[in-house]
Amino acid sequence: MQTVVNVQALHAVLSKYRQQGLRVGFVPTMGNLHDGHLALVDAAIKQCDKVVVSIFVNPMQFSANEDFDTYPVTPEEDEQALIDHKVSLLYRPQLKEIYPSGLSAQTKVEVSDLSDMLCGLSRPHFFSGVATVVNILFNQVRADVAFFGKKDYQQYLIVKKMASDLSLDTRVEGIDTVRLESGLAMSSRNHYLSSDEKIQAANLYRILGELASSYKTGSRNKAIELGLGQLSECGFDVDYLELRRQSDLSEPSENDLKLIVLAAVWLGKTRLIDNLEFSL
Ligand code: PAF
Repeated sequence: MQTVVNVQALHAVLSKYRQQGLRVGFVPTMGNLHDGHLALVDAAIKQCDKVVVSIFVNPMQFSANEDFDTYPVTPEEDEQALIDHKVSLLYRPQLKEIYPSGLSAQTKVEVSDLSDMLCGLSRPHFFSGVATVVNILFNQVRADVAFFGKKDYQQYLIVKKMASDLSLDTRVEGIDTVRLESGLAMSSRNHYLSSDEKIQAANLYRILGELASSYKTGSRNKAIELGLGQLSECGFDVDYLELRRQSDLSEPSENDLKLIVLAAVWLGKTRLIDNLEFSL
């Protein structure tokens, strides 16, 4: 695996790939890689000749009171995992490669509507920070296809819409969430959970499943009410619990058959998100 830390070196390697007519897959990450990220890498390896992974902890998507300074950084473990999974190129840019004029002077990308709901309500800076950095990375890497985890379903749809609205060349593909046997979705923020909290956190996915079943046989309000009750019984502080249309996260009508239930909850000091896609 080659590692590059600036755009010039990145372009030198990518132009060789292009000269050979190779299909390039891209997995953008913030490092601290777990099996969820590695499932994205494996999907990319299956479809592409060369896979590029970026590791960049993007300050623009953190607000002042969030965990940017304490975000877990594990460079040696990440590098070894990427070598084991046959990644061709690791791009680990410095801040100035991404934001050459500085963070505050940076042109920003806003994906309206989709960013103004669910996680966007409690984290108003977040999706603009994600859309901006992903747009920059897509333009630097110019991959054929990029892979995003569906655990961050709203992020996945926002990136997909951004790439389509801005006519970017990179196609965006969503990959199913990887879970522990308990059902807990893999996430870098699981590091913040104690072992008791990890057991408790697994209830989130179980409750989403029960909500989906109850919606199939009853009313939407009843299903949400039941879900909210179960979440608070299990010790979660609920940010949101919503049933939406899979395609654009809008409120579903009676004719919508492809739905998704999404939740964001606090367990102690840790914010967890998860979702479950289902069909009627
Ligand atoms: O999901 C993430 O790890 C980040 O939001 C991403 C897509 C790498 C952008 O910084």
